[in-house]
Amino acid sequence: MGNDSEALEEIITGLRQDEKSISPKYFYDERGSQLFDEITRLPEYYLTDTELGIMRDNIDEMVSLIGKRASLIEFGSGSSFKTRVLLEHLDELAAYVPVDVSEEHLLASADEIRSEFPHVDVLPVVADFTHEFDLPSPIVMPLRNIVYFPGSTIGNFEREDAIELLRVMHHEAGEGGALLIGVDLQKDPEIIEAAYNDSAGVTAEFNTNILEHLNNDYDADFEVDAFAHDARYDEEEGRVVIRLISEKDQTASVGEEEFHFEEGESILTEYSHKYTLEEFEQMAESVGFAVAHVWTDSDDLFSVQFLTRN
Ligand code: AVJ
Repeated sequence: MGNDSEALEEIITGLRQDEKSISPKYFYDERGSQLFDEITRLPEYYLTDTELGIMRDNIDEMVSLIGKRASLIEFGSGSSFKTRVLLEHLDELAAYVPVDVSEEHLLASADEIRSEFPHVDVLPVVADFTHEFDLPSPIVMPLRNIVYFPGSTIGNFEREDAIELLRVMHHEAGEGGALLIGVDLQKDPEIIEAAYNDSAGVTAEFNTNILEHLNNDYDADFEVDAFAHDARYDEEEGRVVIRLISEKDQTASVGEEEFHFEEGESILTEYSHKYTLEEFEQMAESVGFAVAHVWTDSDDLFSVQFLTRN
């Protein structure tokens, strides 16, 4: 992500709202990406391990549902273990198409995948996947498109926006295509809250790092240590709400603009939505997907779902 003026405008607009907010996409500077990797290895953060376990336990069935000569289109940059599990088992893939806005990160991870899987036609696309984009033409004509969206990244989107994103994925899947998606599930709130309030404090550092990022790349001067991490599960809304709470009366500037924070005032930095299988099925069906298969772990913490276009 560059320090372009459009991004600066977006940040300022978020901070001008009655409830100040910063988009979670600003978590992921170099340090933030490192911290997120650390989060995925925390004992409390059940999402990554559970999803990976579901993939490994059911890979044969997934591969047979995906079928021969598919084009695998990953929303997000795709350097994860989960992607590798798929690529290791899909031996007649027409192409692997990772899609991401961050060109630098995308091309670096595409190169890594190429060197590990030399037989795969890797065709990265620089695009904002929340809007429709053009797909490349692989050397081998694909029989179908499989959109892959792991990690419960869908959880970052508010329900209406999640439905819009499902609509884009439905479009990119094309006729006869499908979506393989990781969706975190509603469960005991204590398990969820622990995942976002780890005892080592990594999630707290990940959250406050968003302010470091603005200081370093967007001409801001937040006193990072004067904001505290706050994450709680709102059971009614079915989502974790992650905020930074100002620990004193203070002012920070971003670009040309000054923002005042009262003691106790918050900045919303992220939502992480949790679904029931029923609700997610309704959302999928509302855009024309049919839920063809759902895999879960034995504790029903997480789901991986195969949605087909009808
Ligand atoms: C990458 C959006 C799936 O919501 O669990 C982890 C991000 N934030 N800990 C999530 C996150 C704090 C994560 N997603």
